[in-house]
Amino acid sequence: MSTHQDLDSSNTEPLQLEQLQLRLEELQEQLLQSQKMGSLGELSSSIAHEFNNILTTIINYAKLGLRQKDADARTKAFDKILSASQRAAKITTGMLSYARSSSDRRESHNLASLLNDVLILVEKDFKVHRIGLDVNISADPYASVNAGQIQQVLLNLIVNARQAMEPGRTLTITVSENKDDKMAEICIKDQGTGIPADVLPHIFEKFFTTKKADKNGQGGTGLGLSMCKDVMESHNGRIRVESAVGHGTKFTLRFPCSSQPAFGLKSSENANHNPQPEPSSATETSFV
Ligand SMILES: Nc1ncnc2c1ncn2[C@@H]1O[C@H](COP(=O)(O)OP(=O)(O)OP(=O)(O)O)[C@@H](O)[C@H]1O
Ligand SMILES: [Mg+2]
Repeated sequence: MSTHQDLDSSNTEPLQLEQLQLRLEELQEQLLQSQKMGSLGELSSSIAHEFNNILTTIINYAKLGLRQKDADARTKAFDKILSASQRAAKITTGMLSYARSSSDRRESHNLASLLNDVLILVEKDFKVHRIGLDVNISADPYASVNAGQIQQVLLNLIVNARQAMEPGRTLTITVSENKDDKMAEICIKDQGTGIPADVLPHIFEKFFTTKKADKNGQGGTGLGLSMCKDVMESHNGRIRVESAVGHGTKFTLRFPCSSQPAFGLKSSENANHNPQPEPSSATETSFV
């Protein structure tokens, strides 16, 4: 009997392990996707308000245009309607591109335009909380990345920064490229609370959060930064944090650059992945 069981288990164990591994990967993928939608949920009320404002603009200029007999005044009203509709289309495009499932497809992407798509989603939220945004794009670097995952990283860092800041403060984002080591860099620097030295070593751990549940039971899941770390690791990139209590926090993302996709070529075909030595750890923390 025992021999039979042993034989049986030796046959099934590898299979079960393989199935468990597949299931684990599936669950990790689902977790990533729900974390992603959770970050978008954080912005949903400001996005809905923004849509309402855009619709009010469109309705008012449409009414105005209908009342006007003068061709110039009508053209002006049409212009306003067109630009408001284009802004609405930008937001929906941004949301759809952000929400797309994060399969592991990598293509050469312009990092500044990935950032701009995310900024469209957060603009209104920043206005509502009276937080300034100072964006400085001094280069146009390309990197071979999964666009959805990188947008998720950017949104997580931007939402964290906004949550750490009081009204009247400013978030500074810079995009640059180091031509010597062919690395692209995105810095997200807030003027928030800063992170205490005893908390800093834990922030990339799964489920680590200092955000208490509010009256609706909504706190932090503590998955944002651990997901950022996993994504940066899988892109051969790095994420570095420097923080000073009472002054703010700066996250720096570094990516190996790729060449710009040639017109007519599938960008993945042209992705000149410029592998850097795999870092021992993708994260670096420092307390200032
Ligand atoms: N910019 C920041 N300023 C101050 N503290 C931060 C900042 N970013 C992260 N933290 C700290 O790191 C912790 C972990 O962040 P993480 O994004 O992983 O989870 P969370 O924001 O708490 O939850 P979730 O991302 O699910 O809303 C936060 O709870 C907070 O203590
Ligand atoms: Mg977070």
